[in-house]
Amino acid sequence: KQSRTNDIRTENSPLQIFVKAKKKINDIFLEIDDYVDDTVRFIDSLKDDHKIIAQEEVQKVEAYKDKVQGIRYVLKRDHMKVAFFGRTSNGKSTVINAMLRDKILPSGIGHTTNCFLQVEGSDGEEPYLITEGSDIKQPVQSVGQLGHALCKEKLCESNLVRIFWPKSKCLLLRDDVVFVDSPGVDVTPNLDEWIDKHCLDADVFVLVANAESTLMLAEKNFFHKVSTKLSKPNIFILNNRWDASASEPEFLDEQLDEQKEVRAQHQDRAVDFLARELRVYNTKDAEERVFFVSAKETLQARLKEQKGESAHSGALAEGFQNRYFEFQDFERKFEECISKSAVKTKFEQHTQRGKHISTEIRQTLNEILDRTQKMKAEQMNAQKEVRDKLNFTEQQLILLTQEMKDKIHRMVEDVEQRVSKALNE
Ligand code: GTP
Ligand code: MG
Repeated sequence: KQSRTNDIRTENSPLQIFVKAKKKINDIFLEIDDYVDDTVRFIDSLKDDHKIIAQEEVQKVEAYKDKVQGIRYVLKRDHMKVAFFGRTSNGKSTVINAMLRDKILPSGIGHTTNCFLQVEGSDGEEPYLITEGSDIKQPVQSVGQLGHALCKEKLCESNLVRIFWPKSKCLLLRDDVVFVDSPGVDVTPNLDEWIDKHCLDADVFVLVANAESTLMLAEKNFFHKVSTKLSKPNIFILNNRWDASASEPEFLDEQLDEQKEVRAQHQDRAVDFLARELRVYNTKDAEERVFFVSAKETLQARLKEQKGESAHSGALAEGFQNRYFEFQDFERKFEECISKSAVKTKFEQHTQRGKHISTEIRQTLNEILDRTQKMKAEQMNAQKEVRDKLNFTEQQLILLTQEMKDKIHRMVEDVEQRVSKALNE
């Protein structure tokens, strides 16, 4: 049953926009590669005849081969990247775990994540990690062990540890989404380095805020910096720990009003931040980017569901269903946003380059064709002259021989006449 639901989810997932586009553009570049190959082979076979193909043309076409190979290499590795930021303990790692439906990243009270952690899909069945500057695959069996492996390494906070998690265990990873977890934005003086190293190729940013407090300057500053380096970044704001606002059943009405008020306040401030301060969206679109969720609860619910228990048994407080739906709503909008953005940022440029390469090669071939046609015409002309001359000579010869024949004939006749006349006489 699980696999059937997964199949349905896969087909309907907005991530398929990216997955299909990636397949298509890879196929197209395979064709371009063949086309360039054929051209190189063809041109190579003619290159000794210097009159037909110039040496520069051979070099130009051969250079495209490397370019196409380079693009194909990048395209195979292109993915959708989402990066999570926010203050320490807001629940960044827990949000990622909830989306991946598994306890992959260490989470806990206090300052837990102390360097950048990138989770990406791998084809094998065993998870492993690779630290920055090394290519040794260290096996990872459990979250505890991952935490331990990370503590052992003397890592600088802007360092990147890549965690390879089996694609078979998670649909998002199979569809080429890569997750980047970060240390709290409040613990670093190196925001610029962080942005240059980890953010410039991110398709979506998620600001994990704490619904128990308001957006802090550290969080706002970070996104101000991001939006000076990237034009109109895609930002989602998750007001996490929303379970903490839930009412105790005995004070239901009173607390519900308070909860509504808090929500409206957070919503207004978040929308104001996105629309008026950062100017990345208009107010209406900004409203669609703010969510109130409980990552911890969602993760628990999903783990319970996987064990065949009811999602509700993972609830932390009243109002579980709404928070769970809101998390799913966030995921849907996130998937739509990331796949469209990644198609545009990752493939648009390559599409232009692919077009450029095929146009250039076509033009080169057209020039060669023009040149050969001209050469052929010239040769035909040259041959025609020879032919005319021969024709003329032939004609002349015919005329000449005819004349000779006539002359000889007349001479013979003359001789004959004279002979017979002499005989008669
Ligand atoms: P750092 O890595 O230290 O920057 O923190 P983080 O933002 O990654 O937070 P983390 O996911 O480690 O969560 C911090 C603590 O908050 C953990 O004990 C989580 O279990 C808890 N937590 C996370 N999300 C929620 C939530 O939605 N509700 C509640 N009640 N607790 C949460
Ligand atoms: Mg963390």
